[in-house]
Amino acid sequence: MDAHQPEFDVALVDAADSGVVGRRREIEIVVGALAAARHILLEGPPGTGKSTLLRAIADHAGVDLVFVEGNAELTPARLVGHFDPAQVLAQGYSPDVYVDGPLLSALRDGGLLYVEEINRVPEETLNLLVTVMSEREISVPRLGRIPAHENFRLVAAMNPFDAVGTARIAGAIYDRVNRLAVGYQDEADELQIVDHAAGDSPLAQRAVRCVRLSRSHPDVRVGSSVRGAIDLVLLAQQLAALRGVDVADTTTGIDAATTALSGRIRLHESSGRTAEEVVIELWEAAAPREDGERSDTEGKA
Ligand SMILES: Nc1ncnc2c1ncn2[C@@H]1O[C@H](COP(=O)(O)OP(=O)(O)OP(=O)(O)O)[C@@H](O)[C@H]1O
Ligand SMILES: [Mg+2]
Repeated sequence: MDAHQPEFDVALVDAADSGVVGRRREIEIVVGALAAARHILLEGPPGTGKSTLLRAIADHAGVDLVFVEGNAELTPARLVGHFDPAQVLAQGYSPDVYVDGPLLSALRDGGLLYVEEINRVPEETLNLLVTVMSEREISVPRLGRIPAHENFRLVAAMNPFDAVGTARIAGAIYDRVNRLAVGYQDEADELQIVDHAAGDSPLAQRAVRCVRLSRSHPDVRVGSSVRGAIDLVLLAQQLAALRGVDVADTTTGIDAATTALSGRIRLHESSGRTAEEVVIELWEAAAPREDGERSDTEGKA
């Protein structure tokens, strides 16, 4: 159909892999699923690189990644599209005056429809997606049947800790998609991500250690992603400059840590503590050890 035929092959895996820290296995699996013309759901906590790796794959494959934020307002009409009311008055219900929504764009052009937080999507919209996945076509009133381009795929993401819950999308959707669990990366990879985003900083390793500790702290239900470590480092750099102090300044470190992380960690209901208290404890626990450990040599595999 189109001149461009994406190759979901090892060259694509190599290319996508070169711009993403770690994640080769995940890239292989996603590319494999796309090559097999299957749909795939990435399930993992926020900030684990789901969007990053899908974007890298789509960019290097030269296919559109049609992004849709899953939320309660994502009605079938918003996903599919609509007739422009003003133009309908002038021209009637002609295909020319139809404004494609993200689903129709991806179906027609052979793009990847990327639905984030798919578990937040209303039931009727999920049902529509199920139908499209099963039939590989859609019927739109007054527009007719739109068959899916052969390269159309659904890629979805969701967060297992989401308060909205993930149980409701079980069943029909799960039976039509493949699922890849995307977990937190190891310390060396997270450090590389922070270095990449925030420049080599003497605080990077402590920040990474701090967010990693937050994921297993007994008072914490959901810890911080690597995004928290990135922000912590960027914030500390700016704060230190504003205050005219070293970036390793104690108060500045605590201010950066509490500001970057206190809203990101979720405490258990039963915890009688504040998020700030817990972050300060984590920040202390993440301090470089006394035994002369060099923060920039350890942990880089
Ligand atoms: N493997 C990685 N390589 C490079 N950067 C990464 C990687 N993982 C995460 N990041 C960086 O961390 C941040 C969060 O990543 P991303 O947005 O891809 O996460 P996500 O899993 O899509 O999160 P959410 O579930 O909240 O949408 C981004 O700034 C991204 O650049
Ligand atoms: Mg994302």
